[in-house]
Amino acid sequence: MAKACFADSVMMDSLQLRNLALNGGPCALIDRSALCHNLRMVRHTAPTSKLLAVIKANAYGHGIVPVAQALQDADAFGVARLKEAMALRNAGITHPIVLLEGVYSHSDLDLAARLSLQPVIHSFDQLQALESWAGSANLAVWCKVDTGMNRLGFSADAFTVAWSRLSSSPRVKQLIVMTHLADADDRTQVRTPHQLARFQQLTKDLGVDRSVGNSAGILAWPDARLEWVRPGLMLYGMSPFADTSAAQLELRPAMTLVAPLIALRRLSTGEEVGYAGAWRAQRESTIGIVAVGYADGYPRHARSGTPVLVAGRIVPLIGRVSMDMIAVDLTDLIGSNGSPKVEVGDPVVLWGDGLPVEQVALHADTISYELVCAISQRVENRYI
Ligand SMILES: Cc1ncc(COP(=O)(O)O)c(C=O)c1O
Repeated sequence: MAKACFADSVMMDSLQLRNLALNGGPCALIDRSALCHNLRMVRHTAPTSKLLAVIKANAYGHGIVPVAQALQDADAFGVARLKEAMALRNAGITHPIVLLEGVYSHSDLDLAARLSLQPVIHSFDQLQALESWAGSANLAVWCKVDTGMNRLGFSADAFTVAWSRLSSSPRVKQLIVMTHLADADDRTQVRTPHQLARFQQLTKDLGVDRSVGNSAGILAWPDARLEWVRPGLMLYGMSPFADTSAAQLELRPAMTLVAPLIALRRLSTGEEVGYAGAWRAQRESTIGIVAVGYADGYPRHARSGTPVLVAGRIVPLIGRVSMDMIAVDLTDLIGSNGSPKVEVGDPVVLWGDGLPVEQVALHADTISYELVCAISQRVENRYI
């Protein structure tokens, strides 16, 4: 299904894509229908929960405004920074927006009130700022409790005090309580059951909406599907689990990173490729040079052997990733029976439809989150 979708987009637009790619280097094709499909999968998994779509970090590199526009069916959006919320409001997005790290100053509270934002309050510094704020508005506030991650949130001991101060603050019109899971992608760990039990114990009698699950929490831990869920990764069609692919979870990749093939070369046995000659031809070889590099966000630590999709077949990356280019070994592709025609200008898929970004991440000792978030500004997002 997902494959047909990318094939369609390339076929529909292949000349345009070729020109665009050749002139502009790589581009990220963002499939709005995949975003909508993935959102429906969240609804299917957590049918009674409201859905806060996490679109911080430029919607994990997918483009914060177009993604918010595509995900109209979300009940709220979550961002990390005020700047991200401002971009959404400037674009006319009227959904509730939660500031996941909250605010610290009166001027930021003024702005949050003016833009109808809902700050997370996770510390006494923030609580103090809210209590001493002279603003006349009152806000919906998400109170964060730390159930074991030790990153943000009131400790279990401090929570009762914080909650009662928030409940009695005239600046607060609505309270929601939340926590974040440290290890939800590992179904074998005891950390998540501990966190869930602690959260349940602290919040069961509060009588307000509660929120726990990120993507892994939603998918693997039914008790994390409370009144609100907070998916990020799965909306973009990536799997949070090492042992289960996005396709197995029926998620569709929303981003396909494409770059043009800009040169083809024949090498004799023993010739080396790229900086430090890090790859050496073991036979007569045909290699391709693709116009994508670490300045575009392609990971510099991707090893020789990292999969790259050329003409619908997986070929290995060879040698070091340069700032603007990578090399791929096309020998098997070109030499095989019925081999596809490969020529300069052809679009090459670095990840996305047909090549899960999780596989590339594995070869670069990182995670899919980092790869999509690190796409650089010179890569154009094209929405299909
Ligand atoms: C507080 C909070 N909730 C939800 C999410 C979404 O997590 P995921 O992308 O794993 O679904 C994040 C992301 O880091 C987060 O910080």
